[in-house]
Amino acid sequence: MDVVFAALLGFALGSIPFGLILTRAAGLGDVRQIGSGSIGATNVLRTGNKGLAAATVLLDALKAVIPVLVAKSVWPGTEGIAAVAAVAGHCFTPWLAFKGGKGFASAAGALAALAWPVMLLCAGIWALTLFLSRISSVSSLVSVIAAPIAAWALGYPQVIAPLLAIAAIVIVQHRANIGRLMRGEEPRVGASAK
Ligand code: G3P
Repeated sequence: MDVVFAALLGFALGSIPFGLILTRAAGLGDVRQIGSGSIGATNVLRTGNKGLAAATVLLDALKAVIPVLVAKSVWPGTEGIAAVAAVAGHCFTPWLAFKGGKGFASAAGALAALAWPVMLLCAGIWALTLFLSRISSVSSLVSVIAAPIAAWALGYPQVIAPLLAIAAIVIVQHRANIGRLMRGEEPRVGASAK
């Protein structure tokens, strides 16, 4: 039963669509109608409001941090399930007909709560990739793929399976980005919304 509680808590918190809530509250309309159509921070940034994009990152990360920490202390051993469920809740939220975001900020929050040294290494990989590519999806994809490898390298074998599941979800959610990258059409960070 503990696994079910952890999964339900993770999915419930993960499903809160902060990017959409914040942009609507700010009078910026429906963020799903611009750019990539995602409710994530990269797309919120395309509204031109950097503060809202930063708030979206923080809240989307926090909604994964909380269930992982709760699972760790209340139902030990279920934190990996809570982490995967939070990312899945963000990507397939029932509030938006099981659509949503791409899971990267929630994945980062989940990883911070699961194994913070792995998160620090992945944050470095993310920043370096973003600096070199200037493309948000490239840095997201490279760092989620690096995460299970980093967990293995730093001695956190217990988080490798959830990180592989999270990487699979995030990669599937980036399928349109991968198509645009292959066609050379993926916009760089800072490009305006189309
Ligand atoms: O973290 C999301 C990012 O990787 C891609 O977002 O809106 O450019 O598809 P977006």
